[in-house]
Amino acid sequence: MGWIKNMNAEEIEKLIEPFLPEEEGPVKTIAGAMNYSIRVGGKRLRPRMVYEAYRCFGGEDMGVIAPIMAAVEMIHNYSLCHDDLPAMDNDDYRRGGLTTHRKYGEAMGILAGDGLQTHAFYTAAKACEAGAAPETVVRTISILAEKSGIGGMLGGQAVDVESAEKNIDLYTITFIHKGKTAALIEASLMMGAVMANASEENIRLMEQLGEAVGIAFQIQDDILDVTGNFDELGKPIGSDDKNNKTTYVSLVGLDASKSALTELFMKARAIISELGERADGLSDILESLVGRKK
Ligand code: IPE
Ligand code: IPE
Ligand code: MG
Ligand code: MG
Ligand code: MG
Repeated sequence: MGWIKNMNAEEIEKLIEPFLPEEEGPVKTIAGAMNYSIRVGGKRLRPRMVYEAYRCFGGEDMGVIAPIMAAVEMIHNYSLCHDDLPAMDNDDYRRGGLTTHRKYGEAMGILAGDGLQTHAFYTAAKACEAGAAPETVVRTISILAEKSGIGGMLGGQAVDVESAEKNIDLYTITFIHKGKTAALIEASLMMGAVMANASEENIRLMEQLGEAVGIAFQIQDDILDVTGNFDELGKPIGSDDKNNKTTYVSLVGLDASKSALTELFMKARAIISELGERADGLSDILESLVGRKK
């Protein structure tokens, strides 16, 4: 398969599909729940970032990068399955369909998240079979593990849960956003760069870009939880308020949230411009996020 510019969600889904578990035998139900959570929809932002970062630094083997793209979407979906559970945000809709636990029951919702998490690492390791150097794949998997675990997404989610019903400050909200959302976006960009054998300096640039874009992305998510609409978003409006979450918007207001966004996008543009023309795909992703409605 040749290179595709501005790969859309459908094209990414075609790449992910072969890595999904077979729905057969005694594990048919759990495999179905895992696959449901992925197939029901989604923007596929993180795999697109893996792909464009890989391309930016000269990567050109689709077979090698596809498992990494699938892996990050699986980790993301695991985080969503668990985020929606009754013990967490207790939400009934996601991506325009029922949440996994509402469709398959709470136990299967928990197990689908667990299943997607381990299947992500199994899938990422397949980059070796596709011909990538084992040391490159180990570094990539290490980034995925660190950024999705206690030093990243899971850490942010834990502090988010603990902070509900409490007054928290801008420092804490930024810690939460950096963890629960930016970490996986940082990982996506860094993994694409590592897989393309980018320099350490460029891998660091990807981390900085991911931090700016990721924090902006969650501020937008907090804004959309207030101003968005269900038909476009495919998930409930007012979830944060229902759970008494302090968000960027509830803390500083809508106008200051929008100013923070402008600043973060400027920072992201400055990082991308350091990379020149080869970063056009990354620039397209960034501009598609500005003012997003879903
Ligand atoms: C939702 O992520 C959870 C957050 C980190 C805000 P997305 O907005 O990328 O959700 P999908 O993948 O498109 O459904
Ligand atoms: C969740 O933040 C981030 C995750 C790691 C899933 P939210 O709880 O605000 O995400 P949504 O709004 O449910 O997608
Ligand atoms: Mg949440
Ligand atoms: Mg939520
Ligand atoms: Mg939200």
